[in-house]
Amino acid sequence: MTKQEEIQNLKQEKNAVILAHYYTRPEIQEIADYIGDSYFLSKKATILPHRTIVFCGVSFMGESAKLLNPSKIVLMPDAEADCPMAHMVDQSALKKVRQQYEDLAVVCYINSTAEIKSWSDISVTSANAISIVRNLPNKNILFIPDKNLARYTAENVPEKSILFLEGFCPIHENMRAEEIQKLRAQHPAAKILVHPECNYAVLNVADYIGSTSGILSYAEKSSDIEFIIGTESGVRYALQQARPDATFYFPETEPVCAGMKQIALDNVIEVLKTGKNEVLLEDNSINRAARRTLERMLEAVEK
Ligand code: 13P
Ligand code: SF4
Repeated sequence: MTKQEEIQNLKQEKNAVILAHYYTRPEIQEIADYIGDSYFLSKKATILPHRTIVFCGVSFMGESAKLLNPSKIVLMPDAEADCPMAHMVDQSALKKVRQQYEDLAVVCYINSTAEIKSWSDISVTSANAISIVRNLPNKNILFIPDKNLARYTAENVPEKSILFLEGFCPIHENMRAEEIQKLRAQHPAAKILVHPECNYAVLNVADYIGSTSGILSYAEKSSDIEFIIGTESGVRYALQQARPDATFYFPETEPVCAGMKQIALDNVIEVLKTGKNEVLLEDNSINRAARRTLERMLEAVEK
């Protein structure tokens, strides 16, 4: 029996569904029931009938799925797969900003721990940050933890005053605009599609800025046949499936998220067999507040 067949059998036996982020390895995306960006996956987790969700993603994703579905079993193939940005908020700095502005809304990127979410008013993902922030009644916004997504949101919602702290995704922050421009010089007809977690210099050279699913749908609908991609290189798998006729170029220093790549077929099999690495969250005030922060995001998108 192949590993893929073993996973199929275990899924049926355990009434399990597999969700995978676009940044996971191709063999993981191949066996997933649903592949998506952070928003799609968090929403999907709330509407699936299965008893068990195997979340092929980093820890904040499994934690968010469990917060939104406390009665479900959420299993993480690799318990150590983490997102460094999800921890990058200094609570004392946040408290200081709260004291300065009476009407402040703290908007928290879903790439954050439950504790950070509990300090916040509403969660967002890169797919909905602009529209959610635009529709908030508050004039003053503190956007955590991603300073790049915060700056990009501020540019698109100029009527708000958006403050941010010093958080970032190391993979997107370290992408070099020079490498993107070098690719453009080699492929002048290629469109440059980048993620808003990228640094300002990279955003400045882009033809399109959007979440992972935004980048995919741009490529899918475009009549262009060459694209330079400024996001984690795991998305190559879905891009090639969506546009087998097109060529996708990634920066020479390949953007690779170590946490996402830790997930392998063997650990998917292991957690399905043993129930290991279950996300367990206490029913306490921190987790209840974090759940409300996520629920407000889903409600805001549905409005
Ligand atoms: P999206 O899934 O919202 O595109 O965010 C990218 C990311 O870094 C996920 O960790
Ligand atoms: Fe976190 Fe960046 Fe990896 Fe996304 S790509 S999970 S933001 S480290």
